[in-house]
Amino acid sequence: MNSDQLAAADMTIAPGFNPAAFSPKAATALRTILEKGFYRDSLRLPRPSQHYGLSELSVFLGYFRKQRNCWGYSGLDGVYRKFLRSEKGPAAVYLFDLFWRAQPIQENILLEIIGEDQLGELREASVISSLNGFVHPNIRIIAVRHLYAMFDIDRTRTGDFVYFGSDSQDYVEIIERECAGRRFERSLDLCTGSGVQGLSLAKQSDEVLCTDLNARALSYVKANALLNELGNVRTLESNLFSSITGRFDCITANTPYVPMPDDADAFDLPMRGGDLGIEFTFVLLEQALDYLNPGGIAPIYTSDPIMEKGPLLAEELSRKFGHLPLDFTQINIFRSYPNTERQRQHFKKHKMLAFDDCVLVVRSASRFSVRKRAWHPSYYWRSRLLRNNYAADPTVQKK
Ligand SMILES: C[S@@+](CC[C@H](N)C(=O)[O-])C[C@H]1O[C@@H](n2cnc3c(N)ncnc32)[C@H](O)[C@@H]1O
Repeated sequence: MNSDQLAAADMTIAPGFNPAAFSPKAATALRTILEKGFYRDSLRLPRPSQHYGLSELSVFLGYFRKQRNCWGYSGLDGVYRKFLRSEKGPAAVYLFDLFWRAQPIQENILLEIIGEDQLGELREASVISSLNGFVHPNIRIIAVRHLYAMFDIDRTRTGDFVYFGSDSQDYVEIIERECAGRRFERSLDLCTGSGVQGLSLAKQSDEVLCTDLNARALSYVKANALLNELGNVRTLESNLFSSITGRFDCITANTPYVPMPDDADAFDLPMRGGDLGIEFTFVLLEQALDYLNPGGIAPIYTSDPIMEKGPLLAEELSRKFGHLPLDFTQINIFRSYPNTERQRQHFKKHKMLAFDDCVLVVRSASRFSVRKRAWHPSYYWRSRLLRNNYAADPTVQKK
């Protein structure tokens, strides 16, 4: 698209997505576009960057191993776009721009995949808006395993923002591995957001309950369940367990887990887990034990604060739960360091150096134990690469 076309396409601000308007017909139209346009493959593309770095090698390997690069960047992104265009056709490249980078594309590209009627369904469902021959996205979409998940574009939307990050995606993969081969009668996904973890359990559960404080997130869960043709997903507005009754065989939660100061303008994402990042998780864990069936499993996404004197999570688990017959397996994913002056001050005040993103898998056992392992052998290198080659917002272009 040239600069005049972009200017014309940008003339309007697209209205936001109303998940309650997402219809079964819109779900069919969107699935058709994503499947016929090879959207899963589009996520092998990196975002553009003006720099080359160490991460180029990992992007290269990722692309040819058919893995996702969509959270990363490459100075050679144009080369990968050419590869993908020749492998899967032009639509895959345009869909990456539309539903990952949240950029407008020409309407006739979508019309080549679906007809005017289905395009109209998507407009009516507020998935896209059209202006001057261009289509604007009102949502972003990720493909995770067998699922598609829609989530919000605008990260500055306060209050009812519906989140998805690379943690959400890693978490689905860890849940899948930890719960492989198990069948659940009832599963519960707390802090559900787009619902992606709950939906990922739907095929191995009789029923999945997805809960959140944010009512708009629950509308998203229903829309995402429609998109993925899942009929056994229920939603409930609840502050942690306050409105939940009964017991579950599997409890998941991607908790707010980032260490942040408690002042309103320091966090616009639903991510503050407390001063150390783990305070919310401990409130959740204490209540979760009353809702987990004996023999059940609770993989919970949280963090491990790395204090000046060492990691804190295992120590705190022993202090709070050491008298109970519980097995905790801490699966470390990657390490993050403070990267703004405000975060550095906050970390210094609390004698923290960094924090590890991790999934804590809770199971009943004959006696208390805490074990730790890395999710992936590349844990160390991934932490290093992410430090230099990552922005959580897919629309942010690295300078
Ligand atoms: C980090 S997001 C995770 C969303 C989603 N599970 C994912 O992985 O993308 C945290 C979610 O927790 C929800 N949340 C925060 N505090 C909560 C509470 N006290 N009770 C229920 N949900 C809460 C937020 O609304 C948000 O949707």
